[in-house]
Amino acid sequence: MQTVRQLDALRGAVATWRAAGERVALVPTMGALHDGHMALVEAAKRAAQRVVVSIFVNPKQFGPNEDLAQYPRKELADSRMLAAAGVDLLWLPPVETMYPAGFATNISVGGVSEVLDGAHRPGHFDGVATVVAKLFNQVRPDVALFGEKDWQQLAVIRRLVADLDLDLEIQGVMTQREDDGLALSSRNAYLTPEDRAQAVALPRALGLVERTIAKSGDSEAALAQAREILTAAGFDIDYVTLADAETLGDPIEGRAMRLLAAARIGGTRLIDNIPVTTSEYG
Ligand code: PAF
Repeated sequence: MQTVRQLDALRGAVATWRAAGERVALVPTMGALHDGHMALVEAAKRAAQRVVVSIFVNPKQFGPNEDLAQYPRKELADSRMLAAAGVDLLWLPPVETMYPAGFATNISVGGVSEVLDGAHRPGHFDGVATVVAKLFNQVRPDVALFGEKDWQQLAVIRRLVADLDLDLEIQGVMTQREDDGLALSSRNAYLTPEDRAQAVALPRALGLVERTIAKSGDSEAALAQAREILTAAGFDIDYVTLADAETLGDPIEGRAMRLLAAARIGGTRLIDNIPVTTSEYG
């Protein structure tokens, strides 16, 4: 695996593959890799002959009171995992390459960025859209892969790509979970053993809502029950809600729906989401 920190070296490597007619996949990450990221890498290997993984802890997507300084950084372990998985190139851009002095551009995707996590984390999705657009332009992949755990992020990126006619395919990859159902996330590392034991209430509450809606269609009662379960487990809830799977606005009959939640336990903010498969939503 090549490890590259200079933009011209990245472009040279990708140009060589392209000249040989090879498809290139990009897996953008912020490092602290876990099996969820490795599932993205495996999907990337199926989608293209060459796989680039980027690691960049993007300051623009962290709010002033968020965990930028504490965000786990594990470059050596990450690099070993990626090499063992058969990744071709690890792109490690320095912050000066991503945001050189004078950098003044902000990409803001309206609508889908403004609700749910966008409302709770002002500026977060602008930071994501801006860095992802830069990564797409640096690597110029044929396909880029993102985890469905960050469903709203995936929806924002799909909107960005459609709106700007970016010439690449976006693939979402199913959320990877621990045996008890907790979605894999780099932030799970912050959980104390006590919080970790309670955290399983999040996927359980979502599963309960999904089953209740499938049976009775009474979404309001099911959502209220989920909020009770989460509060009893010690969560401080940002939202538990049903939304249109693409726009993240209110559900519309006949269109795909998603059940999404964000809640804090012991200071750690967890998010999760699952599909809801019924045309009735109460
Ligand atoms: O999902 C992430 O790890 C980040 O939001 C991303 C897409 C790499 C942008 O910094």
